[in-house]
Amino acid sequence: MKILVVHGPNLNMLGRREPGIYGTVTLDGINEALSRLAQELECELAFFQSNSEGALIDAIQEAADSCDGILINPAAYTHTSVAIRDALAAAALPAVEVHLSNIHRREPFRHVSLSAPVAVGQIAGFGMVSYLLGLRALFSHIEKEIVTKA
Ligand code: DQA
Repeated sequence: MKILVVHGPNLNMLGRREPGIYGTVTLDGINEALSRLAQELECELAFFQSNSEGALIDAIQEAADSCDGILINPAAYTHTSVAIRDALAAAALPAVEVHLSNIHRREPFRHVSLSAPVAVGQIAGFGMVSYLLGLRALFSHIEKEIVTKA
């Protein structure tokens, strides 16, 4: 099983970006923790981060042919990007949306996610643990799909 992990804009700044909201963990720290969990689950991960909407869309499109699922934090594009939502829908892969912060208890403009309706589910508010829970959830969703199809 291969899963693409997609990090949206400004997440490359984690560690020094608004630590009161996002904590002090770096993106490398998150990716390392995900890699350790992936080893335990015996699945393969590919990582992609970009600050550009188009590059994120290209990565999602490419995953459609090479991956079994997508773990995504679309960051600010969560709230604005019809194009990322459409790319996820077109890829037709199970996706789980994650957020470090609880977007539902922040500013009203963060309460809407355009991508959540095309995802299997959303996990928000647990810092780095959101990603780890998201990977576990996506993994068991895909495993179940494989069993049901067999
Ligand atoms: C975020 C929440 C978004 O609203 C924000 O724009 C981000 C990070 C999170 O992980 O909490 O960049 O996706």
